[in-house]
Amino acid sequence: MSSPAGARAHWSSRWAFILVTAGSAIGLGNIWKFPYMTGTNGGSAFVLVYLACIVGIGVPLLMAETMLGRRGQGNPVDAMRSVAAEAGAARLWQVVGVIGIVGAALILSFYSVVAGWILDYTVLAVQGFGGMDKEDLAATFAALLADPWRLIGWHTAFMLLNLVVVIGGVTGGIERANKILMPALFAIVLLLLGYGIAAADMPAAVRFMFHFEPQAISAPVILAAMGHAFFTLSLGMGAIMTYGSYLERGTSIARTCLYITVADTGIALLAGLSIFAIVFAQGLEPAAGPGLILQTLPLAFAHMPLGNVVGVLFFVLVAFAAWTSGISLIEPATAFLVERFGIGRKPAVAVVCFVAWSIGIAVALSFNLWSEIKLFGLNIFDLLDTLTTKMLMPLAGLLIALFAGWVMKRAHAAEEIGLHGGAFRLWYGTVRYVSPVAIALIFLNVIGVIG
Ligand code: PFF
Repeated sequence: MSSPAGARAHWSSRWAFILVTAGSAIGLGNIWKFPYMTGTNGGSAFVLVYLACIVGIGVPLLMAETMLGRRGQGNPVDAMRSVAAEAGAARLWQVVGVIGIVGAALILSFYSVVAGWILDYTVLAVQGFGGMDKEDLAATFAALLADPWRLIGWHTAFMLLNLVVVIGGVTGGIERANKILMPALFAIVLLLLGYGIAAADMPAAVRFMFHFEPQAISAPVILAAMGHAFFTLSLGMGAIMTYGSYLERGTSIARTCLYITVADTGIALLAGLSIFAIVFAQGLEPAAGPGLILQTLPLAFAHMPLGNVVGVLFFVLVAFAAWTSGISLIEPATAFLVERFGIGRKPAVAVVCFVAWSIGIAVALSFNLWSEIKLFGLNIFDLLDTLTTKMLMPLAGLLIALFAGWVMKRAHAAEEIGLHGGAFRLWYGTVRYVSPVAIALIFLNVIGVIG
């Protein structure tokens, strides 16, 4: 329900906040991106650095962004304006919120197209991949990418699914959808894990992901893992800040953020283990790249016992995960339009979805009719992905760390985050020093200075 001025909506409990925020964090990043990045970045070396980045950068920043949202009690732009005013700092800090809102809409535009692939593959999985070989599956994926109408159709369907939920409001829509989808998602992950243990090669998957191999760690692996830590925790795009603004005072931000991170990392690791167990049992290639779950896995589904059922379950899982993330990408701009311009929630959601949908059309066409349109050598899809995940997210993350660590009054940060003594000093030291330096390294990599 949209809230009248002055009385913002609130999640119904701290568990609701944990569930919806885990819903935002757990998405295509966990089940599509994490396994293929692990596969192409040397397996366990990537996993080790990724875990270090989650603990050292991700968790402190997740806490900082949630804290700014709750302290600021508003959409990302107004929340930043109010915390900046409280700290006696420049109004320009609102730009953090603007970056988030624009970035979230841009991510949504291509996220929705990729989620559309997953919806398409869910239908293919229902029909079954039986009898298909490697070439057939490569041709199937190529045919999907070559067909603008099929891509746009599924992209539209995914956007509508998200629109319907967000129109329902904070508790009546977002919270309600997550309360159904997230338990279903956890159940499917456990089923797949059970399958991986019982019928696939789990020991090989465990070796691949957790064999201690520090010598395989390189600069590109570190930087890839760090960037992914941002994406998987939904950092810097206003989603966490907006969800945090609906969190009741008095709930421990530190503890809830720890639970959210454990859920996000746990799902990535369990999904990775299940996927690699299937990949190794079928003698497939772990370093297949972005096509890992779309081309390699269906090959496994085609040849394994109960492959049809497992295949459908798998794509439904990915679709649910993408859905609960998609809705969190719509809420920041929606809250901004409602709170700044006083327009109704329904038209606000419609505007946000329409803008992201329109940009998504260009993304869908970048795989076929517009594949020749390139800027800096990147097509529209790669351009948006690079702009958001490699530039806007780290930039917003850097600014959030600087604000929380250097601009906001220390006493206010301590009060809001709910940590004391050594635990507070650990968090504070990390956002002041570790996070900014680490993020600066990502930037240097993007502009090609190192790596
Ligand atoms: N964390 C999501 C994933 O891993 O798929 C993606 C995402 C959602 C990024 C929301 C940013 C965001 F604001």
